[in-house]
Amino acid sequence: MNTWMSNAAFGIFFVLAATGLFFFVVTRGALIVRGLAGAGHESSHVYPIYSNMGLIKLVDYQPVISAILLFQYPRLVTKIVEGLKATDLRNKKVLVTSCAFGNVIPRVVEASLQSGAEKVLIADIIRNELIHAKSKLAHYSGKVQYIEDNATAMKQEEGLADANVMFFLLHELPHHLKAKALSEAGRMLKSGGKLYLGEFHKPEPWLLRILSWTYFKVFEPLGLALWDSHDPVLLLQEMGGWSVERSTYFFGNFQVITATKH
Ligand SMILES: C[S@@+](CC[C@H](N)C(=O)[O-])C[C@H]1O[C@@H](n2cnc3c(N)ncnc32)[C@H](O)[C@@H]1O
Repeated sequence: MNTWMSNAAFGIFFVLAATGLFFFVVTRGALIVRGLAGAGHESSHVYPIYSNMGLIKLVDYQPVISAILLFQYPRLVTKIVEGLKATDLRNKKVLVTSCAFGNVIPRVVEASLQSGAEKVLIADIIRNELIHAKSKLAHYSGKVQYIEDNATAMKQEEGLADANVMFFLLHELPHHLKAKALSEAGRMLKSGGKLYLGEFHKPEPWLLRILSWTYFKVFEPLGLALWDSHDPVLLLQEMGGWSVERSTYFFGNFQVITATKH
């Protein structure tokens, strides 16, 4: 290998290692430190990357967010948006339970209003996330309401919404709160309302499964349970009162669940 190639290889390795270290520090690493410090409150499971405004603005770029989801992000959002567009939401409300990076919120808001929704409510446990979401939704002021609330213990009135979008929240919640978040999502829906869940899923090919397993073990250990013990479809079926459909993407690595409340 000549000097140019070995420098290039070193450069690529350095950038990947530095990026991995950065994400570890602002996600799982911070939670480990927080755990050691013994601080426990309702948002102690939330990574600094979602609470510190500087970090939120640093990371929230569509190509970065798409890359984290192996460039499947637009397909997952499109599935949810198509569901919203196919629903008559005239004079109805749509709830977005927890913010997410990228353009999912603007696309969900746009689709909901196109389908006639009178209001979109965006709920998150972190105020900075709501402020950041608002900065992406300047066109829709008056139609969007921002609520500081906990997905696992919602303070809103029951049955307020006809659609509820939860995008990549479950895998970040402690296991005992995963089913709670689903039951709260259902409590917020009217009968006949739909819950749209975007999430990770157990991939089929063994190589992808090993890579995905390693990613979860290092960065997001709470996510692996979605593969088996806390599979959202099983949780919803155990809960009862739902019709559930699942679509998987990219060799089964991701899923969008559409659950209709009876
Ligand atoms: C839904 S996940 C999104 C993760 C995903 N990687 C993305 O695309 O951004 C992160 C969001 O969930 C919020 N969150 C975490 N726990 C919550 C809870 N119990 N209730 C409401 N929002 C919560 C965080 O504040 C953050 O805005």
